[in-house]
Amino acid sequence: MHTTVAIVGGGPAGLLLSRLLHRAGVDSVVLERRDRAYVEGRQRAGVLEQSTVDALREAGAAERLDRQGLAHDGVELRWAGRSHRVDFPSLTGGRRVWVYAQTEVVKDLIALQTAAGAAPYFDAEVRAIEHIDTDRPTVRYLHQGQEKVLTCGYVVGCDGHHGVARTALPRGVRRTHERVHPYSWFGVMADVPPSCDELVYAHSPRGFALLSMRSPEVSRLYFQVPNGTDPADWSDERIWDELDARSALDGRTLTRGPITSRSVLPLRSSVTEPMRHGRLFLAGDAAHIVPPTGAKGLNLAVSDVVVLARALTHRQRTGDTALLDAYSDTCLRRVWRTEHFSSFMTTTLHTGPGQSEFDTRLQISQLDRIAASPHAAAELALNYVGLPLP
Ligand code: FAD
Ligand code: DHB
Repeated sequence: MHTTVAIVGGGPAGLLLSRLLHRAGVDSVVLERRDRAYVEGRQRAGVLEQSTVDALREAGAAERLDRQGLAHDGVELRWAGRSHRVDFPSLTGGRRVWVYAQTEVVKDLIALQTAAGAAPYFDAEVRAIEHIDTDRPTVRYLHQGQEKVLTCGYVVGCDGHHGVARTALPRGVRRTHERVHPYSWFGVMADVPPSCDELVYAHSPRGFALLSMRSPEVSRLYFQVPNGTDPADWSDERIWDELDARSALDGRTLTRGPITSRSVLPLRSSVTEPMRHGRLFLAGDAAHIVPPTGAKGLNLAVSDVVVLARALTHRQRTGDTALLDAYSDTCLRRVWRTEHFSSFMTTTLHTGPGQSEFDTRLQISQLDRIAASPHAAAELALNYVGLPLP
């Protein structure tokens, strides 16, 4: 089999890239190692930036998002018995975010591409990416137990942090910069209407908590735990008690309901450079990971593939490779800005093991500053709703 663009991985990055290329008349094949039900059911991110929503609209993939997505014009910060709402439109020239789950973005993209006759190949595990220094790279994969080869003009690694594409960058070229944070997130889904209309990010002496949602009927809740925490050690009651102890304000507690899923996610920051070598490009989590506190992982994956789709389309239409040549530098500027914001949100709101009172006072001073200064609040708001795409 031959295609113009071989896409390794059918998460949000790979699926949106194939959708954007399809709309531009550039053919591609998505190879995804898991089955469709698994990919559509994987619980992950929930907040879409303005520019992510714009990109999905541009891809003709926002019909359900525009009906069912929840537009949010602010978030609430809580700390030291105080609270402050950061208003997005007034601080950002009218920008906002949407709560719409990654699972739904993935379902919408798969349905559209399938209807267009360009369905991803599921159960197709890529084993090797070769000849990226030539104009005819090859991708070896196992499909339903059979070894197959896909030849192509370009390969894009959208295969997440544990994929194979990153390791296909030659050792002498690849640099990975990493920070492992000393805490994880305990995340739960609960069948109960959210207790607050907007997301709440809470700093507390017991550690960080985040109140989010998936729909008017379903709450999504997170709280900081030590690395290595086993979710099975926590009863439902203990989870709700902990969330209340960290987020309650003026004695108002959360409405409780059945917890339907739970998991623990370690927090990690990582960037691999360059994001391109020869005919191989990296996009999304394959190139970078951010801790989730800034709600950026999915959004950063989307901005990479918007830049890449534009560059590949330009190459096909004009023969000019200038945008492809600039891809890595163009993306990395936004990647590092987003790494900084995600680290800022994480270190401002979490409590490190053995954290000193001095460090806690610095965090509280920073949160007080955001409440007191529209300039400090605007810096948070502009990053949270997402900087304009490159
Ligand atoms: P992925 O979604 O990881 O997709 C990669 C795809 O490649 C997968 O479908 C995988 O099966 C496939 N693949 C891997 N190897 C191969 C191979 N060899 N051959 C073929 N296919 C392969 N972000 C937030 O903002 N908020 C959150 O709450 C949040 N929670 C998260 C929880 C978890 C457990 C994880 C891992 C991430 C979370 N993120 C969160 C980050 C966000 O979900 C990611 O940034 C986003 O999924 C990135 O999309 P992607 O397409 O680049 O990668
Ligand atoms: C959600 C996840 C995040 O990482 C975040 O910062 C806000 C919301 C969510 O899953 O709803």
